[in-house]
Amino acid sequence: PSEIPRSNARAEFVVVANRLPVDLERSSDGTQRWTQSPGGLVSALEPFLRSRKGAWVGWPGVPDVDVEEFSDDGLVLHPVSLTSAEVADYYEGFSNATLWPLYHDVVARPVFDRGWWESYVRVNRRFAEASAAVAGEGATVWVQDYQLQLVPTMLRDLRPDLRIGFFLHIPFPPVELFMQLPWRAEIVRGLIGADLVGFHRPGGAQNFLWLARQLIGLEPSRGSVGVRSRPGMVQVGDRTVRVGAFPISIDAAGLDTLSRSKEVQERAAQVRHELGDPKTVLLGVDRLDYTKGIDLRLQAFHELLQEGRVKPDDVTFIQLATPSRERVEHYQQMRSEIEQMVGRINGEFARVGHPAVHYLHQSVNRSELAAFFSAADVMVVTPLRDGMNLVCKEYVACRHDLGGALLLSEFAGAAAELSSAFLVNPHDLDGVKNALEQAITLDPAEGRRRMRALRRQVLTHDVDRWARSFLEALGTEAATA
Ligand code: ADP
Ligand code: G6P
Repeated sequence: PSEIPRSNARAEFVVVANRLPVDLERSSDGTQRWTQSPGGLVSALEPFLRSRKGAWVGWPGVPDVDVEEFSDDGLVLHPVSLTSAEVADYYEGFSNATLWPLYHDVVARPVFDRGWWESYVRVNRRFAEASAAVAGEGATVWVQDYQLQLVPTMLRDLRPDLRIGFFLHIPFPPVELFMQLPWRAEIVRGLIGADLVGFHRPGGAQNFLWLARQLIGLEPSRGSVGVRSRPGMVQVGDRTVRVGAFPISIDAAGLDTLSRSKEVQERAAQVRHELGDPKTVLLGVDRLDYTKGIDLRLQAFHELLQEGRVKPDDVTFIQLATPSRERVEHYQQMRSEIEQMVGRINGEFARVGHPAVHYLHQSVNRSELAAFFSAADVMVVTPLRDGMNLVCKEYVACRHDLGGALLLSEFAGAAAELSSAFLVNPHDLDGVKNALEQAITLDPAEGRRRMRALRRQVLTHDVDRWARSFLEALGTEAATA
């Protein structure tokens, strides 16, 4: 429709996500700077989109600011403003206190609030309008994640000429849980506006197809959905919507190269030295989120120390936890639980100058992170539920030396690809403790065998392959061999 104002620079390829790849940070002295946004979505998409010189529509990460469209190293960024009330209702509320826990197996109780829903609808409309203004004629628009599930249909109504893809970065829940949502049919109707709806796992795609039949009476195809192949199909009027599984990944070659650099290797040695050269370094790296099972792994470590199965002089635990969603209650609770546990473990087992657990509630830059990965003997990844989990893949990409061991929850999407990890059920504390002990005492030859297999998978299935397979299925990329 002609009433939509169009941006001057109309893009052929547009990513729409709740957050821009950079966050505006305002310090108390009034100065402002841009930093990389947190989370796996940005880690995965940013390198891909930069190489494409596309446009990115998203929120700059702080409320009540109006930022003009700007260009960053060839990537055009189109900020969408949110008011404080919208941040509270659409982002902290409906996105992160309703959808996030609902889609992660209700590991926390989701809150259903009508006001939050109304805000979600309003903000989704704003993102759809902003995308319609930015996209050129016949452009491809790729909508991301659970915060924007209504955008595909809203955008199609505004711009039927566009090719629209949608990808969900978090798990799509079992239908029994999804059916709790008072606005379940509206969400399915919102997503079905896309030409391709993508999930990490075939199970998510299958659940969505079932819901399309049950909730809005469509007739989906019946065959099983494969990974990057055999998408499901749904006929919506004269359109065919594809529904498929596309496991996301990382810039594996980039991290491999970074981890081989002299700077990272020296820093890794320095980290171990600063820790007092323990025999074994355990590492956790997460956003501080209650789905990540940080508390469980600390409990497992604590019990191993108490039982004398690991010695505090030999084994040190480092937990890096990026601050996240700090105004949402469940996050505040989890943070204080974790901090109490760290205090308790160190109270019992630290010596002066030698804490048993090093806890950093901070994010670190990419090369520092690569150094931590290179320095760690056991990477401990124990989410109760995770759409994919990129951290475990990043660890593997950094271990060109074939050193280190990965302990990974079965309930991370990545477990389906990383079968040579020590796979654990994070609800089974004894199982986690046993696996941790096994990983700590791993025979080096067996460790190399496992790491070689993990690296084969991660290095050949990188983020570029993920994006290409999605865009091919969307019909906007030439098929590759
Ligand atoms: P999520 O998207 O739920 O946060 P992922 O594991 O998929 O989980 O992605 C997290 C991303 O954030 C990874 O790229 C990881 O390297 C990065 N990250 C997590 N914690 C930190 C930290 N403390 N410092 C720097 N980067 C971090
Ligand atoms: C996960 C979600 C992303 C989100 C990120 C960080 O990766 O899938 O959509 O951006 O976490 O969370 P935040 O709420 O800070 O954007």
